[in-house]
Amino acid sequence: MEKTFLMVKPDGVQRDLVGDIVSRFEKKGFKLAGAKLMKITEALAEEHYAEHKGKPFFQELVGFITSGPVFAMVWEGENVIATARQMMGKTNPQDALPGTIRGDFGLTVGKNVIHGSDSPESAEREIGLFFSNSELVEYSKHS
Ligand code: CMP
Repeated sequence: MEKTFLMVKPDGVQRDLVGDIVSRFEKKGFKLAGAKLMKITEALAEEHYAEHKGKPFFQELVGFITSGPVFAMVWEGENVIATARQMMGKTNPQDALPGTIRGDFGLTVGKNVIHGSDSPESAEREIGLFFSNSELVEYSKHS
């Protein structure tokens, strides 16, 4: 079954949005396979955001994501990568529709509340960066 990596960013944790965000994915019907509250090191941030290295906002991005705890998650389900991206809304909260996480809670492109993998390749890479196999739980869920 498809898996994706989602992360409530430091602004979302600070603003007590973790519960609401987890609840949205639970209610949608996805299955939580792993989760942890953690502080990201600079090295992990630079690796996670490697594709943005060299962009003008890279230092701001690394500074922000390491500024406080994040809530890292792995979610599982049919088409979960694309569906989670829809539920998150556009990267810039100004363009995100009401009803999406960023549309409801975000204001700026830097502090946009949540990260989600954008492809099967990034999902696999990001899950591997943040979670060891023993932290992912396999179980069945009855619908
Ligand atoms: P995300 O898609 O999680 O990963 C890359 C992040 O870069 C993106 O969310 C934004 O939060 C951030 N980002 C993109 N463009 C800008 C920008 N112009 N200024 C600051 N941050 C940005």
